[in-house]
Amino acid sequence: MEKKNLDWGSLGFEYTVTDYRYISDYKDGKWGEGQLIEDPNVTMSECAGVLHYSQTVFEGCKAYTTKDGKIVVFRPDMNAQRLQDSAEYIEMPAYPADKFVEAIDEVVKANAAWVPPYGTGASLYIRPVMFATGPVIGVKPADEYQFRIITMPVGPYFKGGAKPLTLMVSPYDRAAPHGTGHIKAGLNYAMSLHAHHDAHSKGFDENMFLDPKERKYVEETGGANFLFVTKDGELVTPKSDSILPSITRRSLVYVAEHVLGMKVTTRKVEVAELKDFAECGLCGTAAVISPVGKIVNGDEEICFPSGMEEMGPVTKKLYDTLTGMQAGEIEAPEGWIHEIC
Ligand code: PLP
Ligand code: COI
Repeated sequence: MEKKNLDWGSLGFEYTVTDYRYISDYKDGKWGEGQLIEDPNVTMSECAGVLHYSQTVFEGCKAYTTKDGKIVVFRPDMNAQRLQDSAEYIEMPAYPADKFVEAIDEVVKANAAWVPPYGTGASLYIRPVMFATGPVIGVKPADEYQFRIITMPVGPYFKGGAKPLTLMVSPYDRAAPHGTGHIKAGLNYAMSLHAHHDAHSKGFDENMFLDPKERKYVEETGGANFLFVTKDGELVTPKSDSILPSITRRSLVYVAEHVLGMKVTTRKVEVAELKDFAECGLCGTAAVISPVGKIVNGDEEICFPSGMEEMGPVTKKLYDTLTGMQAGEIEAPEGWIHEIC
């Protein structure tokens, strides 16, 4: 198979139309036979539930080319489970986990020419999405849905690559107490767009959202969870019921504890203690681990000792271990690396 002629090393995080997408439609109470198609457009009712009442959930994972030339996906079974959890919460039918992983296998294999080669730092982003296609005008769940997986080659989520980011503590909330912050539903991202625009227009790379009840604890950004490293080298991750349970964060917690022998604590993190940490990073499929150098909270500036030039040493160790596992350079825990071909 011949690879596409792309400048793999300079890809950003952008939508690209690739050759195939996988679709399966839900009708009459069951999922239909899935298939690969070439048409990147979706035709549906003008009254589709997704258009009016935002009934849509999605996922994100990546395919990598390993050192020995295989194409692998990182923990797609975890995405299958989380998509089911998200769907259940907004009254959508579950897409079967085994079929989810088979669909990823099919669509990645079909788009193998778009999977960036080993050593380019790029990967094939896989975006499974499920949305209500059936018409509804009264507020209720739709009767018809589409499950679709699209893929595209991507580079770093943040423009500067591994350059430390500057964040702003947002005056807006992304989630509500007892709301939907813990699921991966489009509505949460629509909620974050005004805050995103606000932060960008003030020159910040991202927002730090606070807990919506007391506005005292750290939650997450619009698209990644937080990691902190204490001055004693302990990894701390915020605990909250209204953040997305990041697969990257859960994997890093395991790696830190069981591979690197670090002390790890998952607990509520107060904004007031940010100044005491040595390092800070954002973690997620798209973000991988993106270092944070500075957080601005009103007129207070918190500058992490790791600085604005490079990742802190502990963050770097976590980054190298995780990306080494994904590239087949470091042995990963059993079941984490799903081989496609
Ligand atoms: N938090 C939010 C709001 C996200 O959109 C994402 C991205 O998926 C994450 C965290 C990171 O999750 P994961 O590591 O599973 O990609
Ligand atoms: C991901 O990391 O897969 C996401 O969905 C986050 C999004 C901001 C791109």
